[in-house]
Amino acid sequence: MAKKLRVFAAVAMVVSLAATTACSSSRDEDSSSSGSGSSSNLIGIAMPTKSLERWNNDGAHLEDLLKKAGYTTTLQYADNKVDQQITQIQNMINQNPKVLVVASIDGTALGPALEKAAQQKIKVIAYDRLINSTANVDYYATFDNYQVGKLQGEYVVKQLGLDAGKGPFNLEPFAGSSDDNNAKFFFSGAWDVLKPYVDSGKLVIPSGKKLASDADWKNVSIDGWSSQKAQSEMDNRINSFYTGGKKVDVVLSPNDSLALGIEQSLESKGYKVGADWPVITGQDADLANTKNILAGKQSMTVWKDTRTLGDQVAKMVDQIVKGTTVETNDTSSYNNGVKVVPSYLLAPVVVTKDDVKTKLVDSGFYTADKLGL
Ligand code: GAL
Repeated sequence: MAKKLRVFAAVAMVVSLAATTACSSSRDEDSSSSGSGSSSNLIGIAMPTKSLERWNNDGAHLEDLLKKAGYTTTLQYADNKVDQQITQIQNMINQNPKVLVVASIDGTALGPALEKAAQQKIKVIAYDRLINSTANVDYYATFDNYQVGKLQGEYVVKQLGLDAGKGPFNLEPFAGSSDDNNAKFFFSGAWDVLKPYVDSGKLVIPSGKKLASDADWKNVSIDGWSSQKAQSEMDNRINSFYTGGKKVDVVLSPNDSLALGIEQSLESKGYKVGADWPVITGQDADLANTKNILAGKQSMTVWKDTRTLGDQVAKMVDQIVKGTTVETNDTSSYNNGVKVVPSYLLAPVVVTKDDVKTKLVDSGFYTADKLGL
């Protein structure tokens, strides 16, 4: 049923977009009234990298929706290199698109490039990650990033029975890439839940990472969201601080790419599922991690159905082009240092072994076959 609903929603989305695009082309004559300086039907889409699984899905789905709705698109991936993304965005701006959709690598690095977009009246939507330190971003669409971390923290509390007074447990916290604006929200959401237990001694951090407050998140950040860097960091921590039979009980991993590296480290250090395998969090429901959840090597992931984010952004693109009111549902949470950016926040969802089927397969995100179910 859920899959049918999703298909119906997607078709309805395309039909409504197509209808309006048709009308916007008729509006091309007086493009200034259609909310953007450009006369073309081009939409620029800038994604951070192909090496992190989700962005491939994000880019493909959004491009597919916009093409089906009659827009022309240019979709670029920047291999997690900030300079490359700036050049890509500058090239897109030279093609004078109606709207730029940007999932930034470093949200603080795009201000100068977006100056030119503003001069050409090109509207800019920040996709998933906020663009900072510039007035030249018009809207932001993402999942509730603070809630992602909060769900991870609450899961750990429940799983360990911390709220029932259990403990102490050995915790190893990790945070996302230091240049990613989302990473601090993920960490704050989790740390606001877990820190009271660290303060009470129910959670101990043998690696001694200094985390007096969530502002210290960069002390445990893993740049580029790299699985390899997370794996070697975990190796170091186990080698240095887990001797004499001491065991890791829980790992706060902000997303799946880090969790994968951490799981490979634990495996290489002899940890066994069902014996001494720790509680491990994640995010994104990447394929390998979803399989690890089914195999008991990861406890949960916070799923963000990237299709719904693409749907929402495609709708916002169309509203901009049509010159109608752009749908937002949060006009207070995201101050980018220059202004509060009107945002649309989507709800993240916890997925565990028990509901991989109902949430990820029945909704059509994965086939049962792909997960070996
Ligand atoms: C974050 C994003 C997460 C995760 C991470 C690494 O900004 O919100 O879903 O994918 O980047 O790509």
